[in-house]
Parts: sequence; C-alpha cells; structure tokens
Amino acid sequence: MTAYSANSTPSFISPSVTVEDLYLDSPLRLGVLASGSGSNFEAIAQAIQSGQLNATIPVLIYNKPKAKVTERAKRFDVPAILHNHRAYQTREALDEQIVDTLKSYRVDWVIMAGWMRIVTPVLLNAFPHRVLNIHPSLLPSFPGIHGIEQALNAGVKVTGCTVHLAQEKVDSGPIIMQAAVPILPDDTPDSLHQRVQVQEHQIFPQAIALAAKGFW
Ligand code: GAR
Repeated sequence: MTAYSANSTPSFISPSVTVEDLYLDSPLRLGVLASGSGSNFEAIAQAIQSGQLNATIPVLIYNKPKAKVTERAKRFDVPAILHNHRAYQTREALDEQIVDTLKSYRVDWVIMAGWMRIVTPVLLNAFPHRVLNIHPSLLPSFPGIHGIEQALNAGVKVTGCTVHLAQEKVDSGPIIMQAAVPILPDDTPDSLHQRVQVQEHQIFPQAIALAAKGFW
C-alpha cells in the first residue's frame, strides 16, 4: 500500500545538484569524526572509492572504544585513532587533541559522521567554515539527540536528514543539503531511522562536494 520504498529517488529540498556541481579539481582531505556504527563513514569512503567524490580520508577519529566504525575503517585502510572523551576534563581539551591529530594528518575538511559530542570553538576556529555535520531530521526541526524519536512523537508526516556547516549551537549552521523521508503509519524509530539513513548515505558525499565549492 505504500508508494514509497527505501530505494526510491530522494527528494532533495536544497539546490538541485548537477554532476558539474560535484566536480572537484583537486582531492579534499577529509578527517572523519564518528562515535558509532559508521555507516555514513562507509558511504563517504565508498563514494571516494567509486570516483563519485574526489577526496581522501587520511584519518578517522573515534571516541568510544567499542565503536563499530573501526571495523569499517580497517576495510578501507583508513587509520583509526581513539580520543576517548572520558580521558579529558573538558570539551575544549578533547577538541585540542582532535585538532592536533587532524592537523598532523593535514586534513582540510572535518566531517562529523555520527559524532555524538558537542563541538567547541577550539575545533570550529581551527577549521573555519570547514566542519560539516549530518543530523537525522529536517533542521531546524528536531535538533539535539533523538531527532528520529522527536519527529515520530511530534506526529509530523515528513522528516529527513540535513547536512550543514557546524556552529557552536548544536545542530545549527548553514544548510548544505537536505533529503525528505515520509513517515509511514506503522513506523518505529528503527524502521524510520533505516530509511533516513538510506538518504543520509546519498546526500552526505554530495554535500561534501557542494560545501567545498561554496554552495551555502
Ligand atoms: C546518523 O543517523 C546521524 O544522522 C546521527 O547519528 C547517526 C550515525 O549513524 N547523528 C546525530 O544524531 C547527530 N545529532 P552512523 O554511525 O551509522 O553513520
């Protein structure tokens, strides 16, 4: 009965994207920050491998010792470095360490791919307008944690995902790209998150190219 499937064409809300828009002369050096499963990390790594995104990932930084993203990093031969937030007294101290690592790998864009930490000006000022975040809602609706559950609880009929430039205020900043996902009557947080993630994996690599070309 549903006219929507996980594989259907995403409905992009922000600028319509052409192949030319995504073309990059020289490869971006992406430092990816991730806390969990890392499916977005993998989508970006795959887009690079298939030639869709002209970039490399010199380093992945993760903050939870058991994060599954490390297994994906191994498969793509990306060095994974643990900076456990519990080892730092303040958010700023963690970010100082992260900045040192990113600089030592000569990263030029920072990609928060499921990074469940609040970033501070220490990181943002080290990479001005070069920190991207993905969030599982159509911002500015439902910022913060549990974006999926918030949308379900609010009873909205459409939600989605957003890639934006990060700012100090959580889940704010210029929007690069969004994709809409209908909410189905029998959706659970898991079923909805799965469909949102299909769209995340499509828009994130494209949004990285668009951001690098100043489309915001
Ligand atoms: C993604 O759905 C991302 O939007 C969300 O965490 C998930 C990470 O998945 N991020 C946030 O909620 C940030 N506020 P992944 O580890 O499979 O890429």
